Amino acid sequence: MNDKKVITVIGATGAQGGGLARAILDDTAGGFATRAVTRNADSPKANELAERGAQIVVADLDDEKSLMKAFEGAFGAFCVTNFWEHFSPDKEMAQIASMARAAKGAGLRHVVWSSLEDTRRWVPLDDDRMPTLMKSYKVPHFDGKGASDQVFADQGVPTTILLTSFYWDNLVHFGMGPKPGPDGVLAFTLPMGDRKLPGIAAEDIGRCAYGIFKGGKQYIGKTVGIAGEHLTGAEMAAALSKALGREVRYNAVSFDAYRGFGFPGAEDLGNMFQFKHDFQEDFCRPRDPVKSRELNPSLQTFADWLRVNGRNIPLE
Ligand SMILES: NC(=O)c1ccc[n+]([C@@H]2O[C@H](COP(=O)([O-])OP(=O)(O)OC[C@H]3O[C@@H](n4cnc5c(N)ncnc54)[C@H](OP(=O)(O)O)[C@@H]3O)[C@@H](O)[C@H]2O)c1
Repeated sequence: MNDKKVITVIGATGAQGGGLARAILDDTAGGFATRAVTRNADSPKANELAERGAQIVVADLDDEKSLMKAFEGAFGAFCVTNFWEHFSPDKEMAQIASMARAAKGAGLRHVVWSSLEDTRRWVPLDDDRMPTLMKSYKVPHFDGKGASDQVFADQGVPTTILLTSFYWDNLVHFGMGPKPGPDGVLAFTLPMGDRKLPGIAAEDIGRCAYGIFKGGKQYIGKTVGIAGEHLTGAEMAAALSKALGREVRYNAVSFDAYRGFGFPGAEDLGNMFQFKHDFQEDFCRPRDPVKSRELNPSLQTFADWLRVNGRNIPLE
């Protein structure tokens, strides 16, 4: 491991960081090594990474000293936060600031920060097209991330800002797959009208991040957006019909209807889809599937992803 560039991977037991950890481990001649960060070194996912040769380090985003240790001696780091664990943009922003300071302290030479847009740059708080949430946010799980991009620059950390896309895996793990309507026909519900939604296989996010580390200096100070494909709800429903072998109808609900679904985060996600809908051009442009494929030649299309994962989508 000594002659390899060590990448400290936050979230290595999760979707984004896991994809990066596996990409580094798969490329044994690639010149990089994985230091996987987790709060629980005994979890099955941590064990899996350890068995494949990753160094496992215990650290917590809420404990800056532990982050400093996790970054010490590394070449770079992949930084990600998990909003959905606590639903607090303030906590998320504190965690990001801790990562930036720890990265500066460790003298990291390349950080890839997994961010999203601060939607308030497009929809100010007094714009009442969508409700303001938690007093200060339009899309809380986006805004705290985007508002924190600057902390890496302020610390002088060589950083690439990664703009990710909607995981198609949400259809499996987040209850967003098609469900039978009153007539028994599967309905795929999304408040996107006829606009395109950039999507990606979660595993490909880490593989793209690996392409950024391999590309090195050319990506420092840059914002890189990634997507596997940009598809309308109708196009996704058609691909689902084909993969599942039964009719799937696109159910284009209103933003208000989606915000009112009542599950935790429904308002946040309703605002998110409205932002992606209303600012389709600004949201899609930076997330170029062609450039994403240059970073990650095995980038999956939605049909590719469905071929492997379609059978795991719960349909009830
Ligand atoms: N779902 C989507 O479509 C989508 C799209 C774009 C962006 N995102 C963003 O993706 C983020 C989540 O990333 P993910 O999907 O890769 O997460 P995930 O699969 O849910 O896994 C969460 C990871 O974060 C780690 N983690 C969480 N809190 C931590 C803490 N306090 N200290 C150290 N590690 C911590 C966990 O590690 P341990 O539990 O092992 O400690 C785990 O590895 C969210 O912020 C979300 O907004 C999601």
